[in-house]
Amino acid sequence: MGWKNKTTVSEFLLMGLFEGSEHQHLLFWLFLLMYLVTVIGNLLIIVAVAFNTHLHTPMYYFLANLSFTDVNFISTIVPKMLVNIQTQNNSISYSDCLTQLYFFIMFGSVDEFLLATMAYDRYVAICYPLHYAVMMRPQLCFLLISISWAINGLHSLLHTLLMNELVFCAKNEISHFFCDLNPLLKLSCTDIFINELMILTIGGLAGMTPFICIIISYMYISLAILRMPSAKGKQKAFSTCSSHLSVVALFFGTVFGVYFSPSSNHSSHSDIIASVMYTVVTPMLNPFIYTLRNRDMKAALQRLF
Ligand SMILES: *[C@@H]1O[C@H](CO)[C@@H](O)[C@H](O)[C@H]1NC(C)=O
Repeated sequence: MGWKNKTTVSEFLLMGLFEGSEHQHLLFWLFLLMYLVTVIGNLLIIVAVAFNTHLHTPMYYFLANLSFTDVNFISTIVPKMLVNIQTQNNSISYSDCLTQLYFFIMFGSVDEFLLATMAYDRYVAICYPLHYAVMMRPQLCFLLISISWAINGLHSLLHTLLMNELVFCAKNEISHFFCDLNPLLKLSCTDIFINELMILTIGGLAGMTPFICIIISYMYISLAILRMPSAKGKQKAFSTCSSHLSVVALFFGTVFGVYFSPSSNHSSHSDIIASVMYTVVTPMLNPFIYTLRNRDMKAALQRLF
């Protein structure tokens, strides 16, 4: 019976941010502003790194890659949302929905991997300053980034293909502002056991591995900072690390909250707020957090103008 019904739903309705209709206008300008700030901020970083030869080091390459990923990540979600608010039409076609799901998972996971790579890079720079050039060879950096794209491209493909196997019969109202795994699973009228199993196992592995790498890197970094002789150097290093860690905590905290907590325990309203945090707020904050306390980056940006 399933295969006949498979094409019953040809489009979905994204209902996430449209219930309180009197705020639509405000939401539109708010998200447009956040989108523009994110795109401009991250593009400035990419341009600054590309045009300053003394920023051609692993740390800034990773930063530029993070900016590139963040621009793509937010662009899979916010433009569609803005168009839907403006045209007062919540629909998204089945294929657009799965495309959005694919790129959302891929860019989101690459983001996590890059944050982990950046933490490892700082760990090597702070704990093994003399071996830094050898340990972070350009080939290794390139390899790390390529592997991250390859693994996460496949990881995302797995979830998307499994989603494509499901049958959607009658319900097509997604209670979310973009096509995400859990809100889509809730609409399916077939068994979602395999999908949920893969989210918990493969998804959990892909989410936990970078998180654990980050925690371990920052633990070693903190120990190294505590052993620093000068109080001023200590304070400076600590403030940089704490701002990185706050972004990491915001990103991973909200991601884990949405994907790995039992769905009966929280309303989809808090899911939506958490999703806004990691899809819009952290990509917007990243360029500021990673550059504002960085003198080289500020000088590079000034030279740009
Ligand atoms: C990403 O990193 C690689 C090397 O590690 C670099 O060649 C490339 O230019 C970076 N990408 C961006 C967008 O900066």
